[in-house]
Amino acid sequence: MKSIHLPGNREVHVLGQGTWFMGVDATKRRQEADALRYGLDLGLTLIDTAEMYNDAELVVAKALEGRRNEAFVVSKVLPTNASKQGTLRACETSLSRLNIESIDLYLLHWPGPYPIEETLEAFGRLVTQGKISRYGVSNLDINQINEAWAAPGGDQIATNQVLYNLRHRGIEWDLLPWCREHHLPIMAYSPFNQGRLSTEILEKIGVRHNANGFQIALAWLLEQDGVIVIPKAADKAHIDQNHAALDIQLSYDELKQITEAFPCPDHAVPLQML
Ligand SMILES: NC(=O)c1ccc[n+]([C@@H]2O[C@H](COP(=O)([O-])OP(=O)(O)OC[C@H]3O[C@@H](n4cnc5c(N)ncnc54)[C@H](OP(=O)(O)O)[C@@H]3O)[C@@H](O)[C@H]2O)c1
Repeated sequence: MKSIHLPGNREVHVLGQGTWFMGVDATKRRQEADALRYGLDLGLTLIDTAEMYNDAELVVAKALEGRRNEAFVVSKVLPTNASKQGTLRACETSLSRLNIESIDLYLLHWPGPYPIEETLEAFGRLVTQGKISRYGVSNLDINQINEAWAAPGGDQIATNQVLYNLRHRGIEWDLLPWCREHHLPIMAYSPFNQGRLSTEILEKIGVRHNANGFQIALAWLLEQDGVIVIPKAADKAHIDQNHAALDIQLSYDELKQITEAFPCPDHAVPLQML
């Protein structure tokens, strides 16, 4: 499977698994955990969760039973908890819900009321304590990532997780080039725009690849350099399809058609988030 190096040289696969809304319905948790485990079987080892997703961390814990070493676990601190002490406490809570000793990558979920320096200081402490292996940010625009990068410990940021899909290509204007220049991988969330991507043209392109429109949207993202993609799928058939998208090679003409249908803005646009 195609992989990418995080700063510090840790290799991760470019296709991971999201978990937002998992755990909401207690009767579905077993099925959701099984889906994550099925993803692990296929090599989708990066699992993204967050304290905000509440019981999703419990679903991840279930999925990791006996398989902790196979997974690369990402979780996030809420901005309202991201003071120095608050971050340390939030991490403890996530560790306990996830039932693991250490989080592989811990992110600030989005910028909030506390100075980034404070959160970074807490992240540094958590690394020293062995409670996280590395840290990063999410939903930081070009100015915010510049500011964070310049702060003490900022150049250790391992990713910026942002909304990126065919409907939301604004990061290609400024943020994505900046991240590439700084060798900072982007983690693209909501690759299917939460299932709301219109796929007519993508379905047409899919015919030649024996694939559907969602797979084409995913294949397009997987072709972007320096990008990790984390679709959420609780349905095993969806996981199979997403995994199969790794093998789709889009032609120059197909990429052109996709860009005509989903143009990239020709000017800077504010970073959008869900
Ligand atoms: N940092 C942030 O602020 C932030 C914000 C949003 C999301 N995220 C992360 O990114 C992850 C992914 O984003 P998301 O959950 O918002 O949306 P998404 O991945 O774009 O879409 C998820 C939806 O697409 C469906 N789906 C998955 N694979 C499919 C396929 N092959 N064909 C058709 N439908 C398919 C899923 O259905 P089933 O579940 O039924 O399979 C689910 O309804 C989240 O789960 C979360 O971990 C982070």
